[in-house]
Amino acid sequence: MKGLILSGGRGTRLRPITYTSAKQLVPIANKPVLFRVVETLVEAGITDLGIVVGDTAAEIKTAVGDGARWGAQVTYIPQPDPLGLAHAVKISEDFLGTDRFVMFLGDNVIERGIAQLARQFAQSDWNAQIVLTRVQHPEQFGVAVLDEEGRVVRLVEKPREPPSDLALVGIYMFDHNVFEAVHAIQPSWRNELEITDAIQYLVEHGYQVYPYVHEGWWIDTGKMEDMLDANRLVLEELEPRVAGYVDTSSQLCGKVVIEAGAEIINSTIRGPVIIGEQTRIVNSFVGPFTSIYHHCEIIDSEIEHCIVLENCHIEIDQRIENSLIGRNVEISRSPLKPRALNFMLGDYSKVGVLSNSR
Ligand code: DAU
Repeated sequence: MKGLILSGGRGTRLRPITYTSAKQLVPIANKPVLFRVVETLVEAGITDLGIVVGDTAAEIKTAVGDGARWGAQVTYIPQPDPLGLAHAVKISEDFLGTDRFVMFLGDNVIERGIAQLARQFAQSDWNAQIVLTRVQHPEQFGVAVLDEEGRVVRLVEKPREPPSDLALVGIYMFDHNVFEAVHAIQPSWRNELEITDAIQYLVEHGYQVYPYVHEGWWIDTGKMEDMLDANRLVLEELEPRVAGYVDTSSQLCGKVVIEAGAEIINSTIRGPVIIGEQTRIVNSFVGPFTSIYHHCEIIDSEIEHCIVLENCHIEIDQRIENSLIGRNVEISRSPLKPRALNFMLGDYSKVGVLSNSR
């Protein structure tokens, strides 16, 4: 089997972070989501990987390389415009040939991987297998309707009135018959060739499409809240490890990972937390569900339930919570009076400041 990872698209919902970098490279528990996808496929024994790339191709190629570090071989497939998931399949026909394949969206994270599912599909004569899960807001996803025997009857992309609560998880398995479908369908109202329409085509033309209902957690990391949720879930699975330096006046509680070269000075770290390489935490509190990436400095500060990307400097006497902080960000107290907030924020930044109720 081959693997097809979709890592094009624009990531508009994660702006401003995605103005300067690919959304699939934002780290969850200090590891880019895309790396987690590659690892999930390799763990399932799938090492011949195609990665569909768009505007952020250069950055993705630099980060992933030829895949050798995971024991995989990566072929990059450029997609000139994000014209839909089925379009991505269409342009990958030369790479995929007649092999069965797993298509995995590059911004999805799933609990427990896909090894068993992939094995089952590889050994079957099914034409497609789709992964579904029950969600609270099906209108935000592709939605499937199953009949009483559990067969797929209908699929709709982001319906205003969802016919079920079974969302399509961003993991699909196909044989070569999917090419007939992606060539036959027409663009949707949002001008994309939808993979849901291609699967609907397979169902209507007598191909065997099997659903699998996933019970663990699954997160499409499209928005900041989803990123923080995924970060929380992945951090809970961490094995504690201290490879950096922790001084005697600091305290580590619960599941904490301190990477090599990191320094914890006179601080409390309450896990689950990961502190990246060469990061310094001084006179601070780092609270549960926080990932601080490499080469950051957190000084005299309190931070909880956050993702902080590399090279940030945070030195502020207000607690920071529920935040995604981009690369090279500085947050500090202004030394001059009047006590005012000073900002240099990129387009689409979001800042929540406590309003003065008196
Ligand atoms: O996450 C699951 C959902 O993913 C499914 O429930 C939907 O049926 C499916 O259409 C898809 O919906 P999204 O709107 O979330 O897809 P998004 O545009 O975020 O793209 C998913 C990934 O595929 C992302 O890593 C970018 C990449 N992509 C997207 C498009 C449209 C491409 O590589 N090329 C594209 O043309």
